[in-house]
Amino acid sequence: MAGYVVVGTQWGDEGKGKVVDLLGKHVDMVVRYQGGNNAGHTVVVNGKKTVLHLLPSGILNKDALCVIGPGVVLNPFVLFEEVEALEKEGLQCDHLRISDRTQLLMPYHVRLDELIEARGGKYKVGTTKNGIGPCYADKYSRIGIRVCDLQDWNVFEEKLKSTLEIKNAEIEKVYGGEPFDYDEIVAQFKGIREKMLPMICDSVSLVNEALENDKVVLFEGAQANMLDINYGTYPFVTSSSPTSAGVLEGAGVPPQSLTRIIGVAKAYSTRVGEGPYITELLGDEGEALRQKGFEFGATTGRPRRCGWLDLPVVKQAVRINGLTDIAMTKIDILTGYDKIPVCVGYELDGKQIDYVPASLEVYGRCKPVWKVFDGWTEDISQIRNYEDLPENCRKYVEFVEEYTKTSVSLVSVSPEREGNIIRKPLI
Ligand code: GDP
Ligand code: IMO
Ligand code: MG
Repeated sequence: MAGYVVVGTQWGDEGKGKVVDLLGKHVDMVVRYQGGNNAGHTVVVNGKKTVLHLLPSGILNKDALCVIGPGVVLNPFVLFEEVEALEKEGLQCDHLRISDRTQLLMPYHVRLDELIEARGGKYKVGTTKNGIGPCYADKYSRIGIRVCDLQDWNVFEEKLKSTLEIKNAEIEKVYGGEPFDYDEIVAQFKGIREKMLPMICDSVSLVNEALENDKVVLFEGAQANMLDINYGTYPFVTSSSPTSAGVLEGAGVPPQSLTRIIGVAKAYSTRVGEGPYITELLGDEGEALRQKGFEFGATTGRPRRCGWLDLPVVKQAVRINGLTDIAMTKIDILTGYDKIPVCVGYELDGKQIDYVPASLEVYGRCKPVWKVFDGWTEDISQIRNYEDLPENCRKYVEFVEEYTKTSVSLVSVSPEREGNIIRKPLI
């Protein structure tokens, strides 16, 4: 079976959208398996930029069926905004399918996310305020509403009535917020339901049949390992499993269907939102890297925190995901630095460690252990052969390979679909 996975190895925004899109021509199906419209995946084709939040990044390729899987939390209003924006530009989205098991992200989830974040102080996670956490919380509390519930309007109304009672009480009594009017939500969903019905499918059959028939299926991760609910810097994480393990539960496919697991790693690092970040550059240095790398959130527009490459973080992703390959992105942004530090371990209470500790108090005591690389000055964005890269740039790539014991099979040198050095074909 030919299942390929693309996941983030750091804190998101590594360039997963670009990698999924560039593999598009080899792929029969692209499946989103977790997260929701907290994701912002950028695809650049012939200078034209498209940012996708819920639509799989294979959508620009008409020949690939795009599936929103059961593990996703789906805000249908955002989905159809995206669909309609693409259709205005002449791309019909009739190759989009939605799993009947997908959770619906409701208007009250968005409000709750805003209210919970507004408490501020130590409670603030710096979420995208798109309702992701509250929607997953309802899923696991078993009061979520699923896409299949829309297929039987009576079931939808009944579930909405009982869940809204609980949610309105929480909004009003716990957080002092404005409750929702049942009839208003019903009216909104009546409209969106008509658009959704033709796209709803039993994704378990659809995706597994594709795999059984040797079709190439690409599973597109959102967020990244350090934002994982189990392995990230909890509680400064998202509420799903962006890992390769997340594919199995979020897309409903067997472990043996995953042939290659590609981790996308930015050549430096960025993070949006709160939480520990050992290699962060503060002040002018951070600002300079942010400007150089255009590091502003694709979903919220927030400035991304920037810093040097943290290899214990990437190694953690190699282990947890079972990465077979690394796709290194944005190494072109490092052009012009005289010296490039890379974190190769943490010093903790006088000892060196190379893993990410669970406790944030312990992680807070970790200091980076640096290895400093010499930089290069050449513009590398037009280079397509690995041997043509400056020697110091190659040394940087090869050190990552050596440290992680994982092949850096693709080196991306520009945002464009074609801006890559392919060392080993990924598909
Ligand atoms: P994702 O969330 O992992 O899909 O990543 P984002 O799209 O949020 O952020 C990655 C940003 O880097 C986007 O603006 C991409 O267009 C851009 N990008 C991706 N690869 C490269 C690269 O190799 N070089 C440069 N300069 N930009 C890149
Ligand atoms: P892509 O797929 C970067 C971060 C938020 C916040 C934390 C929790 O584009 O890489 P949430 O809204 O999920 O409850 O927020 O996770 N976050 C991301 N950071 N890229 C993303 O997605 C992210 N999705 C969520 O900033 O710190
Ligand atoms: Mg992003």
